[in-house]
Amino acid sequence: MSKDLRVGILTAGGDSPGLNAAIRGFGKAAIGVHGMQVLGFRDGFRGLAEDHVMEVDTRTLAGILTVGGTILGTSRDKPHRMPIDGRVVDATDRIVATYRRHRLDALVCIGGNGTAKNSQRLVEAGLNVVLLPKTIDGDVAETDATIGFATALSIATDAIDRLHSTAHSHHRIILAEVMGHRAGWLTLEAGIAGGADVILIPEIPYRIESIVAAIQRRTASGTNFSIIAVAEGARDVHADRHYRSLEKRRKLAPKGVERDALDHELASLDADHTGHSLRLAQKLQTLTGLETRGSILGYVQRGGTPHPIDRVLGARLGNAGADLVARGEFGVMVAAAGDQTRSVPIEKVAARLNTVPLDHPLVATARNVGTCLGD
Ligand code: F6P
Repeated sequence: MSKDLRVGILTAGGDSPGLNAAIRGFGKAAIGVHGMQVLGFRDGFRGLAEDHVMEVDTRTLAGILTVGGTILGTSRDKPHRMPIDGRVVDATDRIVATYRRHRLDALVCIGGNGTAKNSQRLVEAGLNVVLLPKTIDGDVAETDATIGFATALSIATDAIDRLHSTAHSHHRIILAEVMGHRAGWLTLEAGIAGGADVILIPEIPYRIESIVAAIQRRTASGTNFSIIAVAEGARDVHADRHYRSLEKRRKLAPKGVERDALDHELASLDADHTGHSLRLAQKLQTLTGLETRGSILGYVQRGGTPHPIDRVLGARLGNAGADLVARGEFGVMVAAAGDQTRSVPIEKVAARLNTVPLDHPLVATARNVGTCLGD
């Protein structure tokens, strides 16, 4: 049944450690177990639109398990709004044509929320798609885990550990800015793992007065340094109120100029996701009188060899993806579910961002060990 099936594979969105483990996990099972032929498309959906294809065989897959990044390359290009030859075009028809030209029976996409939305568009265009969840942000709905999160958590935690020693030596407040886009999972878990004194996440808008009070309590108790883990998407209550009012107006605005302007303003606020810790550090130094420094962890969190957890997760989800293709189950994401996997409609995944619920046990854990969450 599955022998000689021809399957395309691509990686899209921000890269992460573990992508190659997933490509290998899928490819080895597809080729070795199911007798399929695998074609790799370069740089995300652009590779399909421009037919940049590469052979994926056992030689290609050799030695990539421990290699960071993705051998296929990636991009954030969207099928329906893709810059080609200096113009932004709807490249969906080009993508379908490439899929047909190569006589593909299925397409495996490895990516996060944006890739889920883009994959769903291709499902609606009639392609057989299977999605594997990947992002260091941990914000893909309906899955217990995403490829890359464990490695980024390990890197961010190691960075916070290292910042502890310099903060202690210099009696300083040090802010570690952690990635995660609009979700606080990476910051919350790295903050708990690294013993941060303050953890600021997008889901809990902070009051600077609360942070100052927490630092002053530590100083009063004789501890003259503090570590603050700040999510790149964290906002104070004023900025959050402004953002939410824009979201409310956007929901009510009819299609047209006003809604486009609101979309643009919201997108620019979303895109403004680095450097928050530096601005906050300056304010805290002024308000506390203590030397304060910011450290943006940035793309280090997405680099290097994957943590063993991501290697196993990539193999597991990749294998399960090959099984779904062999069974002819399409339009679904391979979700991690405890030590099992389950298939979830991509449409359901694309509809929601997985952010930290305020009643999540980890929020209580942080509070119960005395961490200030800025509220
Ligand atoms: O989604 C992964 C991520 O690293 C986010 O945490 C971060 O905000 C974003 O990608 C950065 O995007 P880019 O790689 O396009 O600069």
